Amino acid sequence: MTSSTSTTAVVGATGKTGRRVADLLEQRGHAVRRLARGTIPAFDWQRPDGWRDALDGVERLYAAYVPDLAAPGSEAAITRFTAVARVAGVRHIVLLSGRGEDGARRCEDILLASGVPATVVRASWFTQNFTEGMLRDAVDTGVLALPAGDVREPFIDVDDIAAVAVEALTGTGHEGRIHEVTGPESLTFTELTELLSEIHGRDIRYLPVGFDEFHAAVAAEDGPDVATMLTELCREVFDGRNVQPTAGVLDALGRPPRDARTVLAEALRAGARV
Ligand SMILES: NC(=O)c1ccc[n+]([C@@H]2O[C@H](COP(=O)([O-])OP(=O)(O)OC[C@H]3O[C@@H](n4cnc5c(N)ncnc54)[C@H](OP(=O)(O)O)[C@@H]3O)[C@@H](O)[C@H]2O)c1
Repeated sequence: MTSSTSTTAVVGATGKTGRRVADLLEQRGHAVRRLARGTIPAFDWQRPDGWRDALDGVERLYAAYVPDLAAPGSEAAITRFTAVARVAGVRHIVLLSGRGEDGARRCEDILLASGVPATVVRASWFTQNFTEGMLRDAVDTGVLALPAGDVREPFIDVDDIAAVAVEALTGTGHEGRIHEVTGPESLTFTELTELLSEIHGRDIRYLPVGFDEFHAAVAAEDGPDVATMLTELCREVFDGRNVQPTAGVLDALGRPPRDARTVLAEALRAGARV
């Protein structure tokens, strides 16, 4: 176990995983420095000049990179970030990564070769994308348009990701390891929306769309760069490579991951918009 008097930084501490990682660490008595663009000190992936101050006195850290490790510029950012962390004396980095993304894999390699002891938590699609993430508004409209065909995805509970990250930060023997984590079963998006419909008592439908149609829809809302990044990501991760669930959560935590039904029902009880 790590000492609870050392400071653990959480980069992306207002986000889905970071908030949970920070909460869990504090519940276990660890001193946490929550970092995001609006915190003091601030941390902005676009402003490397501020990273050294943000990491001052930090012994361990969890990082969720934004927008995505597969996005242009991520390799340079992770190279610089790990160098700054090393100079700041950080002794362990846990980095969130995306399963099946070639660009993310290159960033993982940079991290693991950086000289700073590190662990990768490589996650499948979040179940919470539907309740607090990028698909929440689409779910509200009742139509979920994605270029995912009938591929299956082992959706993972973000609380499970946070638990694995905290175990990696506070337990022993995680340096140099990649925890590839997924939920317990693979569902199609049709099956997932059937589950949402059942839990919420209203019709929520999955609409498979082509990549060009998806790109145009995202570009209209978020601009062409975001549209291109998300479309290329979908093209990669929905080609069947990520269908099989892994034993990553069980291996790291000694208990199985939570299934999508449990997570979505809990989110409804907790008052999440769905
Ligand atoms: N969604 C999925 O299914 C999935 C699956 C696998 C991996 N991932 C990976 O998960 C990561 C995102 O993690 P998440 O979902 O926990 O976060 P999130 O909910 O998307 O929130 C983003 C966090 O990053 C902060 N942030 C935004 N822009 C920033 C910037 N320029 N510099 C510094 N911080 C910034 C936000 O806070 P402020 O806005 O307050 O700064 C917030 O704390 C991405 O790397 C993604 O590839 C996602």
